[in-house]
Amino acid sequence: MTALPEKRFPSTADRTDRTDRRLAMRGVVEADLPELHRVDQEAFPEEPYHYFELRQSYDIHGDRILVLDDGQKLHGYVLFVTTSDGYVNWVKSLAVTPELRGRGLGRRLMLEVLRRLRAEGVHQVRLTVEPTNATAITLYQSLGFSFEGGVRKGYFGPGEDRFIMALGL
Ligand SMILES: CC(C)(COP(=O)(O)OP(=O)(O)OC[C@H]1O[C@@H](n2cnc3c(N)ncnc32)[C@H](O)[C@@H]1OP(=O)(O)O)[C@@H](O)C(=O)NCCC(=O)NCCS
Repeated sequence: MTALPEKRFPSTADRTDRTDRRLAMRGVVEADLPELHRVDQEAFPEEPYHYFELRQSYDIHGDRILVLDDGQKLHGYVLFVTTSDGYVNWVKSLAVTPELRGRGLGRRLMLEVLRRLRAEGVHQVRLTVEPTNATAITLYQSLGFSFEGGVRKGYFGPGEDRFIMALGL
């Protein structure tokens, strides 16, 4: 496998162009499910999706899962689902494997999601984020998302507090 380049630290103006373009962004296929599961486990070691949840997500809205593929392995994915009225999209999951973080891949996935949703005429994008997840919050804010109210206590059950962030398109 070809070695990936060292991380570099670009200027803000360069931020959308710094990702490793050898990673193809493409729609998920059924054969990706084991890899998708691995990536999810690496990104969310404390609370990964069960395999069956990823399988069901694939079955129901597999066209709403984008993956980053180096030709041999997956390195990230985003899962984004639009409500049945077509008005709102929820970004349910965004993940980049630990060794490739900080290279603009999370931003690349999100920018593609926003591009697609704008083209589809979706009005608003929403997501939840853990209050301690400063990296994700900074990313979302830099894309224009803002907090909708304060911390939602127990949003995902006891002890699982979340912020809701939203972006109008
Ligand atoms: C959140 C996550 C997807 C970001 O992916 P990434 O590829 O590392 O992010 P990027 O390199 O595209 O960085 C995007 C922005 O995030 C912010 N960011 C990235 N790394 C950061 C860090 N260590 N500290 C603070 N902010 C950071 C910056 O604003 C950055 O933009 P800039 O570097 O152009 O200024 C990744 O860290 C991840 O998978 N984390 C675990 C899973 C997770 O928390 N998912 C989100 C759930 S809501």
